[in-house]
Amino acid sequence: MKIFFAFIFFFITYNFAFAESKWLYSSGNYEGHKHSIHKQINENNISNLNITWKFNSKKISGRNVVQTTPIYVDNKVIIADISGAIYALNPKNGLEIWNVKLNPPAARRGITAISGKNPKIYISTKKYVIELDARNGNILKKFKSGLSLLPPIIDENKLFVATLKNGVKAFDLNNGELLWEFSLKKNNVKPRIWSGFSYDKITKSLFIVTSNPGGLYGGDRLKEDLSISLISINSNSGKKNWHFQHIRHDLWDFDLVGSPMIFSIYENNNSIRVVAALSKTGDVIYLKVKDGSLVFPNGIKKNYPSRSDVSGEQTASFQYTFSKPQPFSGISVDLENDFNHLDKIKHKKLFKIISKGKSGLYTPPSFNYNLILYGLHGGAEWPGGSYIEKDHSIIVPFNKDPWVIRMEYKDYIFLFFKKISKEILKIKLSINKIYNKFFDSSATNLVMNSKKNSEILNPWDKSNPSDSISQTLFSLVPYGGGNNFYSMNCKSCHGVGREGYYENEKQGDKYVPSLVGFNLKNNNDKSLLFNLIKKNHNDLDIKFEYDEKYTIEMLENFEKYDNFLNKFNLLKINGFWQALLDENGNPATTPPWGGIAKINLKDGSLKWKIPFGNRLDENKKIISKGDKSFGGVLTTSSDIFFATGTPDEMARAFLSKDGKLIWERKLPFAGSAPPMSYNYKGCQYVVFTATGGQFVGFKDNGDATVAYKLDDCEN
Ligand code: HEC
Repeated sequence: MKIFFAFIFFFITYNFAFAESKWLYSSGNYEGHKHSIHKQINENNISNLNITWKFNSKKISGRNVVQTTPIYVDNKVIIADISGAIYALNPKNGLEIWNVKLNPPAARRGITAISGKNPKIYISTKKYVIELDARNGNILKKFKSGLSLLPPIIDENKLFVATLKNGVKAFDLNNGELLWEFSLKKNNVKPRIWSGFSYDKITKSLFIVTSNPGGLYGGDRLKEDLSISLISINSNSGKKNWHFQHIRHDLWDFDLVGSPMIFSIYENNNSIRVVAALSKTGDVIYLKVKDGSLVFPNGIKKNYPSRSDVSGEQTASFQYTFSKPQPFSGISVDLENDFNHLDKIKHKKLFKIISKGKSGLYTPPSFNYNLILYGLHGGAEWPGGSYIEKDHSIIVPFNKDPWVIRMEYKDYIFLFFKKISKEILKIKLSINKIYNKFFDSSATNLVMNSKKNSEILNPWDKSNPSDSISQTLFSLVPYGGGNNFYSMNCKSCHGVGREGYYENEKQGDKYVPSLVGFNLKNNNDKSLLFNLIKKNHNDLDIKFEYDEKYTIEMLENFEKYDNFLNKFNLLKINGFWQALLDENGNPATTPPWGGIAKINLKDGSLKWKIPFGNRLDENKKIISKGDKSFGGVLTTSSDIFFATGTPDEMARAFLSKDGKLIWERKLPFAGSAPPMSYNYKGCQYVVFTATGGQFVGFKDNGDATVAYKLDDCEN
């Protein structure tokens, strides 16, 4: 008898260890858990977890990064690179088995597979979802879905696709026929689905989270819409079950992010299905799958934000503030105290921004102040969080770096000229190319150089060729081209069309305000204005010829032109954000700039919060414990979790119970997608996608996929 049990035991464990490991969806499962059942790697042996293979695609594309967690199917690790190619790798050594070249953004944020006798892989691309044979990479079928950034979901011979701009679609898996379409369009607003798609097989509900409806000015979209919402869709009918709007009439780009996490809890001894979604504002939207009602009805409160002072804008009549589940991060910057660590003399420019600053959740953007907030890139970001069934908790990485939101006017006429100029330049370049091909190869270099310059937008770079075209066109507009005085003294910074200049979050924090509509928001006394302009530039040590007569004449010209634009509705209001950086290019607020939090969803309490990642200066000295991250987490059944995505380019592991750091290794580049784990012939592997970071603060981009396993595990 004993022998019999021993045999059974052996049989079960043997089979368990050698059963084909599966990770068929980038989030691990359709419920968005990002949790691995494997537990060979644990707290006690993790010091022996070391690199076992590395794969390089040798593809890089500017600052773009691969945000796709590999999947595991048919005993192959399936990955995507930045060029749109898909690779199947040998799980033991990372050697390539096959590859197929698709176009970017193929598999932008994930891959899907089905296992079994005929294992297949599904890749979302620009036009189609493409079905591949997992055994050899052969293309089997295409589903005409339109652009999707998220991996599709498959159930009962249906393929569900969350498209970026055209809602959710269902196809017949066998014949590719469209079964239904769910549109997000409401009152002419079409929010995007770019970061979260999950499925509850039990209730047949698909879940999406939606984005900001279109920019930080909402005067042209005042009616209700389906943006910034968690939406449940019946997978059979394609009809909406319910939606919960986190933020009404969003003016801040506070998207909901990451794949919603679906699981069961007990309520009055009954098991019920629930769903949790994460936000850039640090909230957990925690609802019952059945009807979208709150699991903690007392966990939210209505709040009545201040009104917008931007013309045509109307702030929503109310918003919610969330207290249960406890938020894992917040939005408000303490303008008095969060910059205390910085030297005011050295940071003149920054403190000037802060002196005109305002902060606070749901404070509307304005022409009259700089809106300074945490949270434009999280709170949570698109990698989302992980769910741990054992104690009904979630683990969420979050960012806490500061941003400034400003409003500006744009000149439609100039925008139009700019667009035309780009086209003209393109034509000019292609004519040159043809010309060079036939007549003069030495001139090719010249064309290449000027093309290069046009890609580097820089207000101090006067050789931007498309700028000179728009300038020529624009100078034909009465008053629009400014006068000589403007061209000589101001244009180099404020731009040909007074459009100003700002660097985006990939570039830095350089900023020159747009002067379009300047008169509309300022005192009409031109002498006062002259003095103000003089003072503003003097404060920043910007020197030019301060001639009152010419300046006033110029301002009068601009006033005429702006009044004309205004009269004919040719002024466009635009809001934009920038990272708020100190003089070394680091986030300007006191550290930490990011961390990881654990929230228990049984009682809604925040269990712990740890800083995550170290920001190092050029001498490798730690200047901040806790940095922003765009990598994501993976929990495992040995009660540990892996995390990555910080500028220090590390992979780390922590204990789930208290967030204690137990392991770290340097990756070739910053981790750029949530890690994944599989078991191959008795050894557990953890795989990191390491292609760097897109944003200011990250170092170089690269192209590595790296697998780790315990040194003493032989297979
Ligand atoms: C070297 C670059 C540079 C040059 C040259 C320059 N500016 Fe500026 N200007 C700036 C910057 C930077 C600011 C933002 C100052 C601040 O933060 O308050 C600014 C601010 C302004 C503002 C305030 C805008 C607002 O919305 O508050 C006006 C108006 C202005 N400049 C007009 C001019 C005029 C007119 C000239 C030419 C006579 C000129 N500038 C030349 C860089 C420049």
